[in-house]
Amino acid sequence: MDYRMYDLIEKKKHRNSLTEDEIRWMITEYTEGGIPDYQMSAMLMAIWFNGMTDEETTWLTLAMAKSGDTLDLSSIPGIKVDKHSTGGIGDKTTLVVTPILAALGVPTAKMSGRGLGFTGGTVDKMESIPGMRSEFTEEEFLQIVKEVGFVDASQTKTLAPADKMLYALRDVTATVDSIPLIASSIMSKKLAAGADRIVLDVKCGSGAFMGDFDSARALADQMIRIGELAGRKVVAVISDMNQPLGHAVGNAAEVLEAMEVLKDGGEERLRTLCLAIAVEMLQLSDRARDSYEEAEAVILETIRSGAAFRKFTEYVRRAGGDETRFLNSVEQVEKRTVEAGNGTSSVSVTIPTSPALSETPVLVLSEKEGYLSSCDNSEIGMTSVMLGAGREKKDDVIDMEAGILILKKLGDPVKRGEPLAVFYTKKEAVIPAAKERFLKAYHISETPPEVDPVILEILR
Ligand code: URA
Repeated sequence: MDYRMYDLIEKKKHRNSLTEDEIRWMITEYTEGGIPDYQMSAMLMAIWFNGMTDEETTWLTLAMAKSGDTLDLSSIPGIKVDKHSTGGIGDKTTLVVTPILAALGVPTAKMSGRGLGFTGGTVDKMESIPGMRSEFTEEEFLQIVKEVGFVDASQTKTLAPADKMLYALRDVTATVDSIPLIASSIMSKKLAAGADRIVLDVKCGSGAFMGDFDSARALADQMIRIGELAGRKVVAVISDMNQPLGHAVGNAAEVLEAMEVLKDGGEERLRTLCLAIAVEMLQLSDRARDSYEEAEAVILETIRSGAAFRKFTEYVRRAGGDETRFLNSVEQVEKRTVEAGNGTSSVSVTIPTSPALSETPVLVLSEKEGYLSSCDNSEIGMTSVMLGAGREKKDDVIDMEAGILILKKLGDPVKRGEPLAVFYTKKEAVIPAAKERFLKAYHISETPPEVDPVILEILR
């Protein structure tokens, strides 16, 4: 049946629900070029203001999932468990959990995104390893999962193309932060990518699309319901994004930090979240243990025995990465002392250095004394973009060695003139503005603040 887009916009504008048939028609027509962007923009804004019912959101998700190819993972034995994060700053959990699961015999066939705006993307992080490929044919993709146990690939152009087109349009029409639009965008890709079960990491806070807990929970609930209606079991971990995850923000630096976790180290909050996500994924798989405690114990054993790190190295080799340079960059992490003057005195701090990181670290010193009490985390993401670690426009080239090493976490005491962070960048000219932006992002209080735990809730 044919509809007029004008009538559908009118309907949504007046808070009426669209039918399954109307939504399917709209997505098919838009993907085929039959609906202009200006009409679809009006529809997106009407949805932003008036929302969608559960049914409408599910129909939209299914129509988007079917707008292109879908992956058939049935040739890979066992239950396939996927993972997706709604996007954050310093979020390198995928690099940790996928090799752990693979080492435990749970295959993950993951399609990831690139960074855009203030959030980073797993594909860019992977490509910071020299030689690494992230674009594969479907045959290669499946073959790598069968051989290595996991793949972290870039989403193919033909998978959920409606989402690609709509996301680009939402990005320029201020319609990204809408629960039905985010839920349908994420779940359409996950359904098209074929996994049986999905663990979602729903980020909440100043560095996430969902700024407060209630909206993060509503988004998580919505995605779980879509999963149920589509016959896929979904677990959601709601996690804090009011400060960067771990210490590193920036591609090569994040790979090094992820490898620290795989070598049984790493920053506490990062480790906690990685372990929780890995446990949830294991418990959804056909290798589930009798209890969550047992699952965590076996995951820790996989890390401590070196099996998970070896799995990641095996993936680097198989995906075309330069194994020698990768191992050198991980194993030659040395400490070095960097000095900085603040006009009247100078300070020094010992920081890691590696062949994968930019040669010229710059210290950022606190201008105040007190406790780090809050952080406008999206500004930290934007600072790292200024330093060269991300894209302001889609086709900007990333400097893989650029980024930020966060030395202080929320709740830490800080003295005036003490280093808060280290910048890695080749863009000398942006350093003063980047420092100003970074320092403005933190609020320093006289008394210690309450700091949220990294895991806020798990919805099973
Ligand atoms: N990630 C997605 O894939 N889509 C959104 O809409 C937001 C985050």
